[in-house]
Amino acid sequence: MFFASDNTGPVAPKVMTAIVNANQGYATAYGNDQIMDRVRDKIRDVFEAPDAAVFLVGTGTAANALALACHINPWQSVFCHRDAHVEVDECGAPEFFTNGAKLVPLSGGSAKIDPESLRAALVTVDDTDPHVVQRGILTITQLTERGTAYSLEEIRTLTQLAKSYNMPCHLDGARFTNALVSLGCTPAEMTWKSGIDAVSFGGTKNGLMGVEAVVLFNPDKAWEFELRRKRAAQLFSKHRYLSAQMEAYLTDDLWLDLARKSNAAAVKLEAAILSLPGGQLIHRRDGNMLFAGWSRKGHQNAKKAGVAYGLHFGQSLDGPDDEVLTARLVCNWATSDAEIADFVAAVTG
Ligand SMILES: Cc1ncc(COP(=O)(O)O)c(C=O)c1O
Repeated sequence: MFFASDNTGPVAPKVMTAIVNANQGYATAYGNDQIMDRVRDKIRDVFEAPDAAVFLVGTGTAANALALACHINPWQSVFCHRDAHVEVDECGAPEFFTNGAKLVPLSGGSAKIDPESLRAALVTVDDTDPHVVQRGILTITQLTERGTAYSLEEIRTLTQLAKSYNMPCHLDGARFTNALVSLGCTPAEMTWKSGIDAVSFGGTKNGLMGVEAVVLFNPDKAWEFELRRKRAAQLFSKHRYLSAQMEAYLTDDLWLDLARKSNAAAVKLEAAILSLPGGQLIHRRDGNMLFAGWSRKGHQNAKKAGVAYGLHFGQSLDGPDDEVLTARLVCNWATSDAEIADFVAAVTG
């Protein structure tokens, strides 16, 4: 009963097979392997962006920090939600790899940036004053850190605001595909057609062993990214094993199937939680992540039975039985009906 994160789940068998199949003889190192040539073409097809520059890295933090660094100078800012992974969960990597750019945390419900908060932050920047950190880049997360998805219209509202100040826009897509299948749109619609210039296209949380792609719709940034990736120790020598994962991911719609499975499991988990004493959602569920509450007694039972999930910080398991405590639960492609039934049995004791 593992609902702590989607990256606690297993690697998809087709991806494992692809890694084994790639393990034949010799292949050129450092991203010059033939599988990577096919991956570049495939990602360009998927995004309907024939000129996009495509790179693979080993972690989402690297994807985000390097993509941001390519678009701004150290005296500029990264506008992000105050709950964004780049702001709260990357140990300062964006600041480090941008050589000290300033992150500007913005507000908005359910981890979506409120356009008014962005507008207010943008207008206060005096671009004639050398004392002031200058406007740099906007980054949004899709799915957000609270499991919600921006609609295309919401993305466009934010990117149009950013572009009215000539700022580029980045999308942290650690859970890109979960959002995509939930919205039912195309990758192009969710990105460059909505004003996004660079994407961290996640794979690890959706069944890969450990690969994220960075897709830059402005190919002029390609050489800089190449150099920054090497400097960040993210240019893998035995790169073919990264390429093989991404190729399998994008073959026969595996990436979409995996995300549909994890989202479908989350629908079932949501229904199960709502049937519990005190069961409630605290954010709308759009993908595979749930932010939910149920009774303290149920949490005590679940923790005793060893269910893995994140109880929100600052809450105690000691107190009145029926008080509602809140938690984050994440499904992955392998979450089964049996696990959900076991979860319910554990909570209800
Ligand atoms: C929204 C978001 N972005 C990026 C990441 C990437 O993190 P990591 O560097 O652990 O791969 C995560 C992982 O938790 C995430 O949730």
